[in-house]
Amino acid sequence: MSESKIRAKILSVGTYVPDAVLSNSCFESFLETSDEWIVTRTGISERRVVNMPRSAPGDMTAADMGCRAARVAMERAGVSAGEVDGVVVATFTPDNFFPSTACRMQADLGCTGAFAFDISAACAGFVYALTVASNMIAAGQAETMLVVGTEVISKTLDWSDRGTCILFGDGAGVAVLKATSGTAGVISSYLLSDGKMGDLLYLPSWGEERFLRMKGNEVFRQAVRMMSEASLEAVKRAGIELEDIDLLIPHQANIRIINAIAETLKLPKEKVMVNIGKYGNTSSASIPIALEEAWRDGRVRQGSRVLFVGVGGGFTVGSAVCII
Ligand code: UT7
Repeated sequence: MSESKIRAKILSVGTYVPDAVLSNSCFESFLETSDEWIVTRTGISERRVVNMPRSAPGDMTAADMGCRAARVAMERAGVSAGEVDGVVVATFTPDNFFPSTACRMQADLGCTGAFAFDISAACAGFVYALTVASNMIAAGQAETMLVVGTEVISKTLDWSDRGTCILFGDGAGVAVLKATSGTAGVISSYLLSDGKMGDLLYLPSWGEERFLRMKGNEVFRQAVRMMSEASLEAVKRAGIELEDIDLLIPHQANIRIINAIAETLKLPKEKVMVNIGKYGNTSSASIPIALEEAWRDGRVRQGSRVLFVGVGGGFTVGSAVCII
C-alpha cells in the first residue's frame, strides 16, 4: 500500500436514536407473536422508534436525526460546519422526494460551502455512500465529507404485518471522512445490484398502500449469499486475507443472517460486531451505529482493519475494507 495515495479516513462516528423504546412484549398486545419468537428468530429484544405502533406519527424526520448524529461526529472529529465540503445521505425514508434530506441537513448544520445529495440503496446505503464519498475524496473533489445513514422506518410499517413490523427500528449514524495521505482510510470497496429481485423487498412511493413489504424467507437466503460473496470480494480488492480483518461490521438485519455469514467466512464470534438486540434493523443506519459502539468499546481502534458489508432492497449489496 503506497503512502502517497490520497484516501478517505474515518475520523469519527456519531449516532442518534430516538428515546422511545419499543420492546418485543409490546407487540404481544396486538399481534400473534411473542418475545420468545422474535428473540429466537431475529436476535432483536427492542428497538428505538419515532412512531409507537398505532399512535400519532412522531415529528422527528430523517434529517432531524441525521443532524443530531452529525453534530456528535463533527465535535468528536474537531471538524467545523465550514470545513465540510460534502454531505451524502443514505436513506429510504427521506423527508421529501426533494429537496433531498442531505440538503436539509446541509442547511441545518450550517455547512454553507458543501454540496449535498441523497443515495437510495436501502440497507446497503451506508456502504454505497461511503464508497461514493471516499472516491470523491480520493479524486480530489472534496477534502472533508459527512457520510450519513438515517432512517425513520417506523413511519413506513404496517403494524398488522408481523413478518415486517417486529424487525425494524429508527436511528442515524454519521461518519466524518477526511483526506489523508497515510495508510489509514477506505482501501477497497465493492458494489453490486440486481434489480430483478426488486419485488422481494420494497416500499412504494405512490398509492394508498405505502408500507414496507418483504418476502422474508427469500430475502434471508439472498442476504446470506450476497453479503458472504461481497465480503470476500472487498477483502480480495484490498489485497489482504480474511484473517487480516480485525472486525466484521455487517448490516444488522437478523442475528441468524449474521451468524450464517460468520460461519460461511469462518470468522470467530469475537471478530463479528452484533448489536441488533437493542436497535433492530435500522437499515442504512445500522452499520455506523454498530461502528460507533465497537469504537466506544475498544473493539475498533487506530489501525484496526474493519470490513463493512450490507445488503438491501433493490437488491443492492456493498462491502468495504477500511483501516481506522
Ligand atoms: O435489511 C435487509 C432486509 N431484511 C432482512 O434481511 C430480513 C430477512 N428475513 C428475516 O429476517 C426472516 O425471514 C424473518 C424474521 C422475517 C422471518 O423469519 P423466518 O424464520 O424466515 O420465518 P418464516 O417467514 O419462515 O415464517 C415461519 C413462521 C410462519 O408461520 P407458518 O406459516 O409456519 O404457520 C410465519 O407466519 O413464522 C410465522 N411468523 C411469525 N410468528 C410469530 C412470521 N413472523 C412472525 C412473528 N411472530 N413476528
